[in-house]
Amino acid sequence: MGIVVIDFGSQYTQLIARRVRELHVYSEIHPCSVDLATLRALQPEGVILSGGPASCYEPGAPQISPEVLELGVPVLGICYGLQLMGKLCGGTITPGNKREYGRATVQLKDASCKLWRGFDLAEEITVWMSHGDRVEALPPGFTVAAASDNAPVAAAWHPQRRLYGVQFHPEVAHTPRGEAILANFVHEICGCRSEWTMASFVETQLATIRQRVGGSARVICGLSGGVDSSVAAALVHRAVGERLTCIFVDNGLLRNGEAQQVERVFRDELRLPLVVVPARDRFLRRLEGITDPERKRVLIGNEFVAVFEEEARKLSPPAEFLVQGTLYPDVIESVSFKGPSATIKTHHNVGGLPERMQLKLIEPLRELFKDEVRRLGEELALPHQMLWRQPFPGPGLAVRMIGEVTEERLALLRRADAIIEEEVRAAGLYESIWQAFGVLLPVHSVGVMGDSRTYEAVLAVRAVHSTDGMTADWSRLPHDLLATISNRVINEVRGINRVVYDISSKPPATIEWE
Ligand code: XMP
Repeated sequence: MGIVVIDFGSQYTQLIARRVRELHVYSEIHPCSVDLATLRALQPEGVILSGGPASCYEPGAPQISPEVLELGVPVLGICYGLQLMGKLCGGTITPGNKREYGRATVQLKDASCKLWRGFDLAEEITVWMSHGDRVEALPPGFTVAAASDNAPVAAAWHPQRRLYGVQFHPEVAHTPRGEAILANFVHEICGCRSEWTMASFVETQLATIRQRVGGSARVICGLSGGVDSSVAAALVHRAVGERLTCIFVDNGLLRNGEAQQVERVFRDELRLPLVVVPARDRFLRRLEGITDPERKRVLIGNEFVAVFEEEARKLSPPAEFLVQGTLYPDVIESVSFKGPSATIKTHHNVGGLPERMQLKLIEPLRELFKDEVRRLGEELALPHQMLWRQPFPGPGLAVRMIGEVTEERLALLRRADAIIEEEVRAAGLYESIWQAFGVLLPVHSVGVMGDSRTYEAVLAVRAVHSTDGMTADWSRLPHDLLATISNRVINEVRGINRVVYDISSKPPATIEWE
């Protein structure tokens, strides 16, 4: 069956599974509480133990049975996974002298370790570290396979038991040779063949959706205009045909021209059954006086569900299922994956759903990352322009406006945002940038226009590069482009007299400001 990833709560757990799938090997994540019988029944060809925020020697730290290391298949421990493996096998784990976050350099030590197949041992490799603890004394039978200044055991292995561990994170883009290391584990060490493809994913999902929905139930899909819900709708439409009705909620928190564009593409081009619900007033009423980001997210999520339920009841027979384009990063960052991860933001399409919701959820993209969703969309022959729309959060402009959401502030932000998109497109950068957008700050500053003093709002421009939204680096936009954006926004959007550029990466910042 491919590779089982056991989750100890790392923010990167999903990335591990996805990297394995990029090698065309199926991979599935299970919480660390998974029992041995389940694990054995999966018949994995290899196991990866994820990182996690805990210290393995602390009481209550997530554990696994030592028998997981005895399944007879190779095991790779990453960060916490290495430390736990070390502890279970009789090594010593201690808090390091200093915590180590970010780039580090490691020296490879052992040419016979298959993790380094194809590597030049004389070269140092750049890796991404994120740990406080470290392996101080190796368990019996283990050998050091790499070391860094701060982590004498940056990698270790036990040749006979086929146990491997790395202190760094090979799954993140900031470990440039990480893919080769994981490929060595998956192909060379576990012997997995590359057989998993997007076409096979579509086939499995169609069967799963048909089985779940049955032969007569109706389904609705909340469309946001973004890539995820569009791809989810197309997939479910392929599975259940006209029993799917797409619902587009015009909630007043959308970008310029978005509602019209959705209608054009879905109704005219794709010919999917579509209902557009005008709901601006009710959303804005709910948001009156609300400034707390989490509160905004939850209120918007609840209101969406209220609209979906009303629309579901209008169909005959009433819809029983709601399709959402929830992705893996939404899941991992919103609710812990039955494991110990921390909540970062309540993405409305995951954590914000009220418990009492009557509709049953179908989330066919729940295991995918954005770029995988785009590939899936290509597989389903969706228009290029739709698939390459930059991501837009479900709660829309409400979370790009620090402070209260009002019609006046929405109008300002919508105009500024349209200018940013126009200029980024004109510079030919729209598809290479993960997201570029404006954030309206609740700050006023003094300016001078003509001969008069102004005292108006500040707009932050945010542009990031990312492959999946899990980690992101701020984009080094050309100064000329920034200058044009700033000039146009200040001249054309009455009410904004200052533009600043956000130069924070994720982590430690997030992409959206709220
Ligand atoms: P953050 O701000 O958490 O965003 O670094 C990561 C990615 O997720 C998008 N995002 C959302 N998408 N519903 C969504 O569908 C949401 O509530 C939501 N919040 C953030 C964000 O735009 C970025 O691409």
